[in-house]
Amino acid sequence: MRWLRVTLAMLLLSFGTAYAADNADEQAGKALMAAQAAELQAAEGQGNSDELNPLWVSVKEGVEGRSSSQSPGATSLINSYDPKWLHTRSEVTAPILSLALFGVIVIFALFVLVNGPSKLAAGFSNTMVKRWPKADVIIHWVMAIPCLLLIITGLMLLAGRFVFADWIGPEAVAAMAAMAKPIHDYMALPFAVAGILAMIRWMKHNWPASYDLKWFASVGGYINFGPFKGKHPDAGFSNAGEKLWFWSFTIFGLVVIGSGLLMLFPTIFEPSRTTSLIAITLHGAAAIVLTGFTVVHIFMATVLSEGGMECMVSGYCDENWAKQHHNVWYDEIKAEGSIEYKAT
Ligand code: HEM
Repeated sequence: MRWLRVTLAMLLLSFGTAYAADNADEQAGKALMAAQAAELQAAEGQGNSDELNPLWVSVKEGVEGRSSSQSPGATSLINSYDPKWLHTRSEVTAPILSLALFGVIVIFALFVLVNGPSKLAAGFSNTMVKRWPKADVIIHWVMAIPCLLLIITGLMLLAGRFVFADWIGPEAVAAMAAMAKPIHDYMALPFAVAGILAMIRWMKHNWPASYDLKWFASVGGYINFGPFKGKHPDAGFSNAGEKLWFWSFTIFGLVVIGSGLLMLFPTIFEPSRTTSLIAITLHGAAAIVLTGFTVVHIFMATVLSEGGMECMVSGYCDENWAKQHHNVWYDEIKAEGSIEYKAT
């Protein structure tokens, strides 16, 4: 691929220049000049750099030189033994991530158009019941807003050049990536901190219950036609769909956070080149799953479940919403006397 060759050529030239200067090695200097000449020829479409360039051939064969760095692999210019990871990232992860986002948006938008929102059967009672403490509402948004920015900038970094390069040109794609990179780096930290807090604090709501399978069997009562119409399956504080979301978010979120921190702080974790390539591939793959679920979650909260959004705005929900969507939880807090109403 041309972009890969140009990137490698730039790497090669910069490493090669440093190498030659450091060692004042005549042979390396000659090889470097040959490399530069060959790269220039290749860039002008006059030849095949792999055949013309002895240094490049050696580099690709994994020949080792000298380096003052003690890091593993520092004596070879490139990771010549597993470029398949880069290939996976560009040819598999990038298109699937783009499809995950746009595909799920289109499918869900069509579903909402055909199905319509799930209305409250008894209408709004206008009596508000406490559902989330203020701290959880804050944690949710400190996690969610960076997460959305991470998805958008992550997509630009991973798939931008494949999706947009033909439309807007490589220079605009490069400018887009330069803007996306610092946003992606800085948003990672609030997302990771709030995400881990959410995982710890909300785990208690998300253990499986005997009625969860029935919830899935009737699609949560969100389907407005056929045999599903009017069904209100049992659900505790979190329904089975939210539990699936929570555990996917926890598992894939931890993969995204772990691999992201490894890449963000290489001087602390000192990953080998292979570990870095595995991390970048896992990071993208886990992001695909999270992205798909996030889109569904946002649709559910904003358009599909009438009255649902209020939970993460004020921390309170309408009493009829609690009865219809989380009856087991509502009955429990009512029976225990721990139900808290909003003062009017
Ligand atoms: C515009 C974007 C978003 C909106 C409108 C939204 C809305 C909501 C609402 C209303 C709830 C409460 C549901 C309930 O009380 O039953 C909720 C819960 C939750 N949200 Fe979001 N959310 C958004 C983005 C995100 C993102 C990006 C993430 C992940 C990073 C996320 C993760 C969660 C999780 C894990 C829960 C708790 C599920 C549970 O344990 O029951 N949300 N969200």
